[in-house]
Amino acid sequence: MRIGLLNGGGDCPGLNAVTHGVVGAAAQLGWEVVGFKEGYEGLLSPVKCKILKRSKTEGILKLGGTILGTSNRGRFSSKVGEGGVRKIPSELMDEAIANLREQGVQALVCAGGDGTLTTALQFMEEGFPVVGVPKTIDNDLGATAMTFGFDSATQVVVDALDRLQTTAESHKRVMVLEVMGRHAGWIALYGGIGGGASAILIPEIPFHYDKVADILLEREARGFASSLVVVAEGASPLGEEKVYEETGGGGEDRLGGVGERVAKKLGELTGKETRSTTLGHLQRGGSPTSFDRVLATRFGVKAVNLIEQKRFGRMVSYQQYHVGSVLIEKAVKKLNLVDPEGEIVRAAKSVGISFGDEA
Ligand code: F6P
Repeated sequence: MRIGLLNGGGDCPGLNAVTHGVVGAAAQLGWEVVGFKEGYEGLLSPVKCKILKRSKTEGILKLGGTILGTSNRGRFSSKVGEGGVRKIPSELMDEAIANLREQGVQALVCAGGDGTLTTALQFMEEGFPVVGVPKTIDNDLGATAMTFGFDSATQVVVDALDRLQTTAESHKRVMVLEVMGRHAGWIALYGGIGGGASAILIPEIPFHYDKVADILLEREARGFASSLVVVAEGASPLGEEKVYEETGGGGEDRLGGVGERVAKKLGELTGKETRSTTLGHLQRGGSPTSFDRVLATRFGVKAVNLIEQKRFGRMVSYQQYHVGSVLIEKAVKKLNLVDPEGEIVRAAKSVGISFGDEA
């Protein structure tokens, strides 16, 4: 048996741990794994691939990035613009499937987010068996309690806030930190709670500038001259559009820039010195946390189990400490967004964190 493996979408800490899991579990069954480079692009002629030997993948679970390379733009992008979906042209699909068969690959493991998994579904529809592994720092995939990479990204946010706090205190400033997450506020929410932010602004809860300013002034009145504000890149004030850095680039439009605006406006409203930092790709780089190393390894092993059981068209899923699986369709049907009324937001509000909303 020979199976294929590819990574799609933005890179993410834990991708190499998935490879380690897939190769380890496949080796136990006496199977061979072919790693395709640069996402689905590696399936096109001339095919870019290599056999992944266990002896070569044993030390990689700790490494950030991906030894296979990946791509979140280009010919196999299922997601374009502001979350729009497009079909991959049939001539590209035919070429990729013919190349997979020529390499003797009988099933393909696709580790990626909703774009990669939407493309994976098209392979299933065209008769090539796939299984999916949920990857994204954004944690926005449905039908899984968590994706790998999210914990590592959140840890970077917490570390950044810890550092910003000491300089904020020294200068009595308000520090605004813009974080990633696309249209979901998970990174901001977890990072903000863990890093002791006073306000967290997320796409799921449109905010009012004056409400955010109020909490900063209230804090000042209570003797806290400095504050931390976390703003998700997809957050926006009520009635206003999201801020994009780049549109029409061949994949999903690139969000970015809201942090600067928030800092400027809060400075005007509070009269306080306010600075903004954009954390950017630091959130995607570096080694995975121990949680992500373990989760991603388990995900890789489960993907091989699914192939062994011929349960194709399914995505590995994490539910209540258990790694199971769901239909890929279910995972990509709807983004997993923060519930504005949910327990986590309520807990944050209970400890005095503002979301800039009316409540
Ligand atoms: O989906 C992961 C992610 O890091 C998002 O949080 C972010 O909006 C986007 O990718 C950035 O993409 P790029 O690496 O193409 O700038």
